[in-house]
Amino acid sequence: MVTATQTAISAQNVDFYYGDFQALKNISLDMQARKTTAFIGPSGCGKSTFLKLLNRMQDMVPGARLAGRILLDGTDMYAPEADPVAIRRRVGMVFQKPNPFPKSIYDNICYGPRLIGIRKAADLDIIVEKALRAAALWDEVKDSLDKSAMALSGGQQQRVCIARALALEPEVILMDEPTSALDPIATSKVEDWIQEAAGNLTIIMVTHNMQQAARVSDFTAFFFLGELIEYGPTDDLFTSPRKKQTENYITGRFG
Ligand SMILES: Nc1ncnc2c1ncn2[C@@H]1O[C@H](COP(=O)(O)OP(=O)(O)O)[C@@H](O)[C@H]1O
Ligand SMILES: [Mg+2]
Repeated sequence: MVTATQTAISAQNVDFYYGDFQALKNISLDMQARKTTAFIGPSGCGKSTFLKLLNRMQDMVPGARLAGRILLDGTDMYAPEADPVAIRRRVGMVFQKPNPFPKSIYDNICYGPRLIGIRKAADLDIIVEKALRAAALWDEVKDSLDKSAMALSGGQQQRVCIARALALEPEVILMDEPTSALDPIATSKVEDWIQEAAGNLTIIMVTHNMQQAARVSDFTAFFFLGELIEYGPTDDLFTSPRKKQTENYITGRFG
């Protein structure tokens, strides 16, 4: 049977500890495929911690411990036989501060594809154009692909990072406050990209900007002190929150 919505990543009873400190408490959340989900909540409530668990970015954190399950398309991504490199290929990540490599725009985008053995220039050319178009950057840089990515504006650098993540054709993109280091014009370009990608790609993003969550996401999850307080369609959560804590937060009473 074909269903209208499908779960891309399912978190089930997730607890997460940094040493003795419990940063996440019994989080269960199904994130829908080909939709945009936003995580909101005050600083320190565990948004980044949770996001990074979704592609095993915290495997190396000393003293960290996870309980519960996180399924990627139905398969436990923390099972002993799961391959973290393969998972990170399927679940790409874009960070808060644009972090292009000190290389040309072209070489930034090719970095991942080359790592997995794609070498032919003709193939790489196609990947670069496709990824830059998908990240809404192609028209701005198509005549300067040899230019250093470091010479671009902040908004362009962040879109290089998005294109770099897209070059491996991930199923899911995680973004941690992707526009917080950007000016308003650059922010709106990244938001435009998110809206254009909607329907094709699963996007899961942290934002401390509630207007941004309201503008670009289909679903919103509100976190507070390591707990998931409320989750639902973005319009519902912002117009008729079910929990008092959510209402207090979205009306600006704290945070
Ligand atoms: N590597 C770490 N080691 C110990 N504690 C951490 C680490 N990273 C985050 N924390 C703590 O976990 C809590 C959640 O942090 P974080 O996920 O970064 O919150 P948010 O992204 O919502 O601001 C905070 O109390 C923070 O201090
Ligand atoms: Mg954070």
